[in-house]
Amino acid sequence: MISSRARLSLAIAVGALWLSAVGSAQAPQPGAAASAPAAAALPKGNVDSGKTLFVKWGCYACHGYAAQGGAGARLSPNPPPLATFIKLVRRPVNAMPPYTEKVLSDQQLADIHAYILSMPAPRDFASIALLQKK
Ligand code: HEC
Repeated sequence: MISSRARLSLAIAVGALWLSAVGSAQAPQPGAAASAPAAAALPKGNVDSGKTLFVKWGCYACHGYAAQGGAGARLSPNPPPLATFIKLVRRPVNAMPPYTEKVLSDQQLADIHAYILSMPAPRDFASIALLQKK
């Protein structure tokens, strides 16, 4: 079990890593078209590739290996629909570092999305005997 302090340092380390690795490529291109893909053109995700990318790009550090949330939002079960998911990764609302298309393509984000969708839902707590003890 990782302590929340260790998890926070990990999140900060990943953030710093991201800044050094990707920060220089982040300058928004003036006039660049918004990257929101048309719903019809959304790529189909590959679960195995998504699993690799989820770890390789550090999503797990803030969102947890089971995408259960932590420093980052809970993503599983029921992640936002793919088009929204892509928008939120490209332009996060607050503390999450943005991942541009130079870092992760729409195809790769579709892969990560498919991986999150493939995760089993957590068990209903009512089915866990230990949690029923009074
Ligand atoms: C440094 C921590 C961190 C990392 C790394 C990170 N996230 Fe996040 N993520 C967050 C936080 C915090 C939020 C909540 C919104 C915000 O603060 O920007 C969030 C929100 C999101 C959301 C929106 C969820 C919702 O329902 O609104 C998605 C989707 C998401 N992250 C996907 C990803 C993916 C995919 C990756 C890896 C490519 C990733 N995140 C990496 C911290 C992180």
